[in-house]
Amino acid sequence: MVIAFFDSGIGGLTVLKHAIQELPNYDFIYYADTKNAPYGVKTKETVRKYVFEAVGFISKHDIQALVVACNTATSVAITDLRHKYKFHIVGMEPAVKPAVIGNRGKNILVLATSLTLKAGKLESLIASVDKNNKTVKMEMDALVGFAESFDFNSGDVKKYIQDKLCKLRLVEFETIVLGCTHFIYYKSIIQEAAGDKIKIIDGNIGTVANLKKVLSGRDVQNNKNGGNILFYSSAVKDNKNREIKLLELMGCK
Ligand code: DGL
Repeated sequence: MVIAFFDSGIGGLTVLKHAIQELPNYDFIYYADTKNAPYGVKTKETVRKYVFEAVGFISKHDIQALVVACNTATSVAITDLRHKYKFHIVGMEPAVKPAVIGNRGKNILVLATSLTLKAGKLESLIASVDKNNKTVKMEMDALVGFAESFDFNSGDVKKYIQDKLCKLRLVEFETIVLGCTHFIYYKSIIQEAAGDKIKIIDGNIGTVANLKKVLSGRDVQNNKNGGNILFYSSAVKDNKNREIKLLELMGCK
C-alpha cells in the first residue's frame, strides 16, 4: 500500500520522516513541486493551479492516501481536492489549536507563508479557537528559498530570523507555531533567537495522527518490505544525487 506526500519542495520531508516511523510497513511517494516553489508568495489562483497539476500526476499512481504536507497548498485547495479525488486526503494546518489549549496567558506567534496568512482558512481557525485574541501572525517567506537551496545554517539565514523576531517584543510570547513545513528545518535557530522560555510547536505529529486515523483498518503488518520511497520533483523522477540528499535530510542514509 502506498501513501503519497506532496509539498512545493522539501518541507514535507519533515512530515514524511515522522510518517515512516509511525507507518513502517507502507511505501511512499514524495512529490516536490520544485519548479513552481515557492508557493507562499504567489496568488491563491496560481497556487491552486499548481496543486491540481501536481495531484493530477500523483493520482496516476495507485495510492491509498495523499498527505498535502504543505500548509499553503492545504489552505487554498484542500476542500476542492477532496471533492475531486476518491482517495483519503490529509491536509496540514498551523498547530494553533494545541497552542491555544496549552495557553498560559502570553501571546502565540504563528509563523507561516504570506499566502497561508491571508488565504482565509487560518483566520477561520483562529476565530474558532482563540477566543482571547492571543495570536499574532508573521510571514517568514524567505526561509522557503533558503531551504530549497539547502542553506540551513548560514549567517544570512540566522540574520534573517533574528531581524524578523527582533520586530516583536518576545517577552510577551510563550509559544511559536511553525505553520510552514519548510520552517521546521530552522527550529533550533528560531529557538536560539527567541530564547528558551518560548516553546516551539508544529503540526507534524497531528498530521500523521490524522493519517493513521484515516488508514485504520487498512493495516499492512505483513508487508516486510515497506518503507520504499519514490521521489519526484515536478513530475520528473529525481536523480540519484538528489534522492541521496533528500534521504540525508530525513536522517536516512
Ligand atoms: N512548505 C509549504 C508550507 O507548509 C510552503 C512553502 C512555499 O512557500 O512554497 O506552507
